[in-house]
Amino acid sequence: MRYSIAKALSLLIILSIWACGFSTEKRRPKRIQDTLEERVVKKVSEAEIINKTTQLGDSITQVVGAVFMSKISKEYARGGYEAAAKYCSMNAYPLTDSLADQYKVFLKRVSNKNRNPINTPSDIEKNILEAFEYSSERGDEIGANVQFIRPGDTILYNKPIKIPSKLCLNCHGTKNQISKEVQAILKKEYPNDKAINYEVGDLRGMWSLKFLKKEIVQKL
Ligand code: HEC
Repeated sequence: MRYSIAKALSLLIILSIWACGFSTEKRRPKRIQDTLEERVVKKVSEAEIINKTTQLGDSITQVVGAVFMSKISKEYARGGYEAAAKYCSMNAYPLTDSLADQYKVFLKRVSNKNRNPINTPSDIEKNILEAFEYSSERGDEIGANVQFIRPGDTILYNKPIKIPSKLCLNCHGTKNQISKEVQAILKKEYPNDKAINYEVGDLRGMWSLKFLKKEIVQKL
C-alpha cells in the first residue's frame, strides 16, 4: 500500500515536470522568443573574420601611430626630446585604454631590439617578426599578418613598424644623433636599451594586437 502511494506520487511529480516543460515552451512570450532567435550564432567564414580584423587593425594602428608622432613633435617643441621621451610608451596614452574598451583589443608593440624589456616578443610573435625581418631585408612590401590563436578565441594582428622619418632617430639613432640629455634619460630609465643605431626605413619592430573572435564576429 505504502509502496503504491510513493509510486503514484513520483509518477505525479514526473508528469507535472513534463507538463510544465511543455506548457512554458508554448506560453513563452513573443518578445523573449525574438531575442532568442537573435542570439542564434552568426555563420561567418574565417576569411570574413580575417578581413574584418585586418581592416580594424590597420585603422587602429594608423590612428595610434599618428597620435604618437604628433604628441612627440608637440612635446619636443615644448621642451625638447627629453620632454618627449616618455610619449613613445604605449602606457602614456589614455587612448590605449579607450581602444581596449571600445574594441576589446589588447594593443602593444614588440621588438627584438627593444628599449623596454616588456616589449619583448612572445614565441609566436618572434616567428612573425622573423618573417617580417626576412621580407624587409629583401626589400619586399610587407603588409599585416592576421592569424587565429588555437585553441582559443583570440585573433592576432601584426604589422611591421618601420622608421618613417628622422624624427625617430633623435631617440633611436646613433650616439651622434641622440643628444647628451636624452642619452642620460635613456641610460637611467632603460639600462638594457637595445633600441639604437636605426636608420630611416629600418624595421623597428611590429604592432601586436589581440582581438576576441566574438567581438569581430559581432561587427560583421
Ligand atoms: C623622444 C624620444 C623618442 C622618439 C623621438 C621616438 N621614440 Fe620610440 N621609444 C622611446 C622610448 C623612451 C621608448 C620606450 C617606451 C616604453 O617604455 O615602452 C620607445 C619605444 C619604442 C618602441 C617599442 C619597442 C621598444 O623598443 O621598447 C617602438 C616600436 C618605437 N619606440 C618606435 C619609434 C618610432 C617608429 C619613432 C618615430 C616615429 C620613435 N619611436 C620615436 C623614445 C622615443
